[in-house]
Amino acid sequence: MLKELLLKNRSYRRFDESFEIKCEELRELVELARLTPSSVNWQPLRFVLVNDKETNAKVFENVAWAGLLKDWKGPEEGERPTAYVVILTDTTVAKNMKTDVGIVAQTMMLGAAEKGLGGCMIGSVNRENVARLLAIDTERYTIDLVLALGKPVETVKIVDLPENGCTNYYRDENGVHYVPKRSVDELIIK
Ligand SMILES: Cc1cc2nc3c(=O)[nH]c(=O)nc-3n(C[C@H](O)[C@H](O)[C@H](O)COP(=O)(O)O)c2cc1C
Repeated sequence: MLKELLLKNRSYRRFDESFEIKCEELRELVELARLTPSSVNWQPLRFVLVNDKETNAKVFENVAWAGLLKDWKGPEEGERPTAYVVILTDTTVAKNMKTDVGIVAQTMMLGAAEKGLGGCMIGSVNRENVARLLAIDTERYTIDLVLALGKPVETVKIVDLPENGCTNYYRDENGVHYVPKRSVDELIIK
């Protein structure tokens, strides 16, 4: 069921780093992206697939994790992502395609969840460094979003908003990660 998959599809930030993700699996995610709607059917998005240890380590240095968890510097060695998908826009086709990016990103994350994988969309990226280390031509491509992927080893739970209405995610002493979500009643304004 879609709802079950959506519940499973949380943002995960700690992984079993011994679990390798194959190129073929990343290609299958691109196959899903290929099937998504696109404004004017321009299909301007392109992908860089990363799954080797050395490049993973370099990308890791240039993405920021869970800004709201001030005491947490991101996943330790051994719990880092084992693949990344860098989502680009080919600006010779179209520009400012944020909606396309969102649709594609969520579709790929759902595809990953269906495979028993998980990960996190990362917008907080040192784009200049990532472009340099992946030899991305920045005259032509913009780096829109990075998907960090792996085999999750953390528990993430959706909870109701606290009484003060704060949407900040948080962790308990056992490392369980909680994500407050607004109620349906709050979302529907009329
Ligand atoms: C466009 C976008 C950018 C995001 N960027 C980051 C990021 O840079 N670092 C990070 O740790 N999480 C990032 N996230 C994950 C959000 O923090 C996460 O979606 C939110 O806390 C809700 O949790 P959930 O995905 O489990 O529902 C991003 C999510 C989206 C949609």
